[in-house]
Amino acid sequence: FHVDTDASEAEKGAYPYYMLKEIDEQPGVMRNLIEHYIAEDGSIKIDEELLKRLNQAQRLYIVAAGTSYHAGLVGKELFERLTNIPTEVHVASEFAYNPPLLAEHPFFIFLTQSGETADSRQVLSQVNEWGYPSLTITNVANSTLSREATYTLLLYAGPEIAVASTKAYTGQIALEAILAKAMGELKNIDKAENFNVAKELTFVANGMQALVDGKSEIKEIAEDVLATTRNAFYIGRSIDYDIAQEAALKLKEVSYVQTEGFASGELKHGTIALIEKDTPVIAIITDEKTAKHTRSNTQEVLARGARVIYIASRQLAVAGDQIILPEVHPLLTPLLAIIPCQLLAYYTSLQRGYDVDKPRNLAKSVTVE
Ligand code: AGP
Repeated sequence: FHVDTDASEAEKGAYPYYMLKEIDEQPGVMRNLIEHYIAEDGSIKIDEELLKRLNQAQRLYIVAAGTSYHAGLVGKELFERLTNIPTEVHVASEFAYNPPLLAEHPFFIFLTQSGETADSRQVLSQVNEWGYPSLTITNVANSTLSREATYTLLLYAGPEIAVASTKAYTGQIALEAILAKAMGELKNIDKAENFNVAKELTFVANGMQALVDGKSEIKEIAEDVLATTRNAFYIGRSIDYDIAQEAALKLKEVSYVQTEGFASGELKHGTIALIEKDTPVIAIITDEKTAKHTRSNTQEVLARGARVIYIASRQLAVAGDQIILPEVHPLLTPLLAIIPCQLLAYYTSLQRGYDVDKPRNLAKSVTVE
């Protein structure tokens, strides 16, 4: 996997758009992170002092915006399950105004592809004033958030040119998994010790490859279900709700379809009023604890005329499910489930004749508050 070392080298090559190139690069990003952060013997190459300071935290605060915020939602699952440290995730622009009551020993983790997002920089300045430790996980070396944090870890994903973030999202989640495993292992937590993150991320990379190789099926679904719709829903529970929120942002920002990422159990409390004939509802089912509940929620929307597309892990799939995901570790299913959602967004935008890489009103890095 050749990592473009410099933005000018980030050529589209045979690709029509950077977004498709960057979706296809995701298996390589996983392998690259394994290469950079995990030694042959399985030990993790992250600064021991950073791991110890993270483990001293009574509470972790993940602060980010947009897609990076959605990577933080999955990070919460990873840190809480593998390190037992309570973790909060905050939208940077909200945190700035009403910081929660801070724990005795907080530790701030900033997720940011560009390292220049003004909302996040504003919070980091406040954190530095408070004198608390911070880590920036970013794709851009020497970026502002990277330089101004106490510690920094890089994604090595190569330049991400398309406005819609794809490989940075999966790269951030994979690096959070590596970091959480290293922290938990240092605390002799069984769940972390038993989590062979190098092996699991290799399975993820192979699963991603299978999904991007099968992109023509996703293209057909986009044409059949999303090409002319005014609105759409992604639904899921727990970690599948985290994925639904990122999936919705992808579809919104490149195809301008009014899309909600919604907790499937919450639909009946009002939002189901929006479901009418042929409303596309895409259900994400990768968690065995919630699968049957989400499936019963899909029956409710089907009864109101919705077009339901199922994205299900192989071991939870039933006849009729349109998109099947290879089986990976339960904490890493977002890394696979998001691939068809990225592709649905990409093809829907193309079918509407939009500039996929430069959607209207948007900038790659939002450096204004
Ligand atoms: C995601 O597709 C968007 N480009 C946007 O939400 C982005 O994730 C957000 O602006 C945060 O950017 P950052 O990761 O560079 O901080």
